Amino acid sequence: MSLKDKEKWNSKYGTEEYITGREPCAWLKENAEFLTGRGKALDLAMGEGRNAVFAAGKGYDVVGVDISEAGIRKALALAREKGARVAPVLADIEVYDLPENEYDLILCFYFLDRGLFPKIRKALKPGGLLFFETFTVDYLKYSSFKREWVLEYNELLREFAGFRVLKYQEVDRDEKAYASLIARKIEVR
Ligand SMILES: C[S@@+](CC[C@H](N)C(=O)[O-])C[C@H]1O[C@@H](n2cnc3c(N)ncnc32)[C@H](O)[C@@H]1O
Repeated sequence: MSLKDKEKWNSKYGTEEYITGREPCAWLKENAEFLTGRGKALDLAMGEGRNAVFAAGKGYDVVGVDISEAGIRKALALAREKGARVAPVLADIEVYDLPENEYDLILCFYFLDRGLFPKIRKALKPGGLLFFETFTVDYLKYSSFKREWVLEYNELLREFAGFRVLKYQEVDRDEKAYASLIARKIEVR
């Protein structure tokens, strides 16, 4: 487990306030019509739970994985407050194995570990949905982020080329630059 990441995030989350907010990311909320609310969902690096709780509120059985105990505590508190249920997993995603054809929905927001791409492709059920959003190279103009932490242009499209892309955008606005994807794992007929 990356102890430095764990300590860093535990310390960031060690406040009363929700540093990433209590409302879901706009990409998830504004595209909620894609969420059937049926089946199992997985939120990778769920942090303080804003997206996991939203998905649970839509009806999914949600598992949220994160390396930070403090994040998980806040996610569970948010879920309680909203009358939703999220099953937490404290784990390092870099070594966490995902089951095959298990999830109807996978969320991954503002976390990039390229080793996850094949695991996500495998873990989604055929017909399952992926929501992914994180920073792109354009963000390096505004932040001292490491290059390896940001997406290249079209990278999500290349990684999920075997999926049916329902929506994709690359945004560079107000000193934020990110790519957002909604894609469905194609069902074999
Ligand atoms: C920028 S936050 C995003 C949180 C959440 N997805 C959201 O959008 O609100 C990044 C998250 O990744 C988690 N994280 C970092 N490294 C991790 C790892 N190796 N395994 C699991 N979680 C990790 C951190 O604890 C943190 O909650």
